[in-house]
Amino acid sequence: MATLPDGRTLPGKLIIVEGIDGSGKSTQLDLLRKYLVGEGYCVAFSEWNSSPIVKGVTQKGKKKQLLTPLSFCLIHAADFSDRMERQMLPALKAGAIVLADRYIYTAFARDVARGLDPQFVRQVYSFAIHPTIAFYFHVPLDESLKRIMAGRPQLKYYEAGLDLGLSEDPHDSFRTFQGMILEEYDRMVDEFGLTVIDATRPLLEQQDDVRQIVAPHLKNVLFAEPSAWREVLAQEGLHGRYLESMLPETSET
Ligand SMILES: Nc1ncnc2c1ncn2[C@@H]1O[C@H](COP(=O)(O)OP(=O)(O)OP(=O)(O)O)[C@@H](O)[C@H]1O
Ligand SMILES: [Mg+2]
Repeated sequence: MATLPDGRTLPGKLIIVEGIDGSGKSTQLDLLRKYLVGEGYCVAFSEWNSSPIVKGVTQKGKKKQLLTPLSFCLIHAADFSDRMERQMLPALKAGAIVLADRYIYTAFARDVARGLDPQFVRQVYSFAIHPTIAFYFHVPLDESLKRIMAGRPQLKYYEAGLDLGLSEDPHDSFRTFQGMILEEYDRMVDEFGLTVIDATRPLLEQQDDVRQIVAPHLKNVLFAEPSAWREVLAQEGLHGRYLESMLPETSET
């Protein structure tokens, strides 16, 4: 059941994934999405920091290193609120499954690691829908660093926590910052009833567990209208995110 902060329930199901960078969230959510689409369910997807009306400002702020911990927090909250109201909520009201790659716990972990008050950050996001299942992919720091460095040796300013002055060396700073975020995540397991998955295990074993945990929540979920284009997209593993990036950008007049 996905629930509004005032306790009203929504017909759809909200399944979200959390964990430190490189914990395998996107890999698992993508496998789950393909499975659910293949089963014929109506599935919507939303990912952190992707609101069409906010993302560009965040990118500028990050590029020019203008964001303080407070503005970093609030700009991500604005991004989240836009996606919640315009993407997630309508889909949940219609009875669909919404899959979210990162949710409010990402902000709770990162913003608190950046020094903001935990209660303040929770209050900022008090408008958020309570998810049906919140998966937390738990990996030790060394495993996540190994996975990230294999594919992305160049670290960005904010992801490495260089704004905090922890170390001038990006890799040292990244390790310390990710360690702080990991501690925050571990603290939140009991507070929010996160469903912990041991993310060091083989990919398909984890996916089996994820599907078993999701299965009891699939009753009464909206089925997608069968249509030729939907089937072709599902077979190709395509969904909104990829399609949007293929469309030409429209400029504001
Ligand atoms: N169970 C696993 N065992 C080993 N490697 C894995 C496993 N799951 C994912 N990986 C690899 O780890 C890397 C990071 O995975 P993924 O992008 O899914 O993580 P993420 O949590 O979404 O990271 P980010 O927070 O940076 O988006 C990828 O190269 C992926 O192939
Ligand atoms: Mg990811």
